[in-house]
Amino acid sequence: MWSPIDLIAGKPAPGQAFDYRDPLQSLRPLQDSYGRRIDYLRISLTDACNLRCVYCMPEDMRFRPRAELLQDDEILTIVRVAAELGVTKIRLTGGEPTIRPGMVELVRAIVATPGIRQVAMTTNGLLLAELAEPLARAGLRGLNVSIDTLDAVKFRRITRWGDLRRVWDGIAAAEAARISPLKLNAVVTRGFNEDEVAPLARLSLDHPWHIRFIELMPLGSVADFQQEAVVSSAETRALIEAELGPLHPVPGYDGHDPARPYRLAGAQGQIGFISSVTEPFCAGCNRFRLTADGKLRLCLLRDREVDLLTPLRNGCTVQELSDTIRAAVWTKPWGHGLPDGDVPQIRVMSQIGG
Ligand code: 5AD
Ligand code: SF4
Repeated sequence: MWSPIDLIAGKPAPGQAFDYRDPLQSLRPLQDSYGRRIDYLRISLTDACNLRCVYCMPEDMRFRPRAELLQDDEILTIVRVAAELGVTKIRLTGGEPTIRPGMVELVRAIVATPGIRQVAMTTNGLLLAELAEPLARAGLRGLNVSIDTLDAVKFRRITRWGDLRRVWDGIAAAEAARISPLKLNAVVTRGFNEDEVAPLARLSLDHPWHIRFIELMPLGSVADFQQEAVVSSAETRALIEAELGPLHPVPGYDGHDPARPYRLAGAQGQIGFISSVTEPFCAGCNRFRLTADGKLRLCLLRDREVDLLTPLRNGCTVQELSDTIRAAVWTKPWGHGLPDGDVPQIRVMSQIGG
């Protein structure tokens, strides 16, 4: 239900929303019922991962059998149709996207799709040392690497067995391959790495990287732990400023990036905060997600999904697929329901891709 609070948050009153029955609608680029233009699709290539970060999934996590995941040709069909509907940017996620067999060729094919202007990837970096160069040659533009600490022992505790050196080798390989922009993501988890935020932020002084601090979001079976361990962006920011001095807003922020950019005095790189819990950026949201098992997820933190795998395997036409995607995007929820205690239940983060 619409309330005056929504107006403050930028949510249009229902009367202001566009009408899906508008006869010209099928000629317009994708938008939702609140008038947000949706041109960014995040695709999870697999729900599996070679790590088990404590804030992401339980240690005994089971992954889906391959037959339940979208095949390459199914992903490419969806990308082609999404691009015809006005999607210009794709981000490949996981689980861990680099463990999917044939992933470099898939990147090349997505890059070659008419209408797609940017293909980026979010990875834990473990396999980047070998893959950065082939990915760059395939046309990848933009890498987000997860790194929650600079301390090898803490890294192992967070990831349950990860080797921090391999991530550093991966970051170095991404730089050598000139993949840009290069962003480092740190999820701040109380008791695990809140004392690491200043050392991570310091990296922006001497590197042209974007260092982004993410608030822990509650999902599925890990939600109780996540809610207890959340550190607000305000607290993270205060910890950084206490040690490194004031953060200055970087001009030119376009409102679509969930992380408003800041800079330390004299720094080459930038610092950002993704505050989905304490300061959601729903008004600027331009994205939707495709899970590895072929469901469109309209909001990261809402369980509403639309199945594409079943119609694809039942031989639907391209027009039917296109209509399904358009109608699904139209139903994109305004935002999440965490303040009302509505925690998404059906997936953990690795099954969505962040
Ligand atoms: N809350 C916030 N971010 C998360 N990530 C994984 N789980 C969570 C969570 N519960 C992050 C990863 C990666 C990105 C895909 O999402 O660290 O940077
Ligand atoms: Fe894997 Fe990323 Fe989840 Fe860690 S946060 S377990 S690297 S999917």
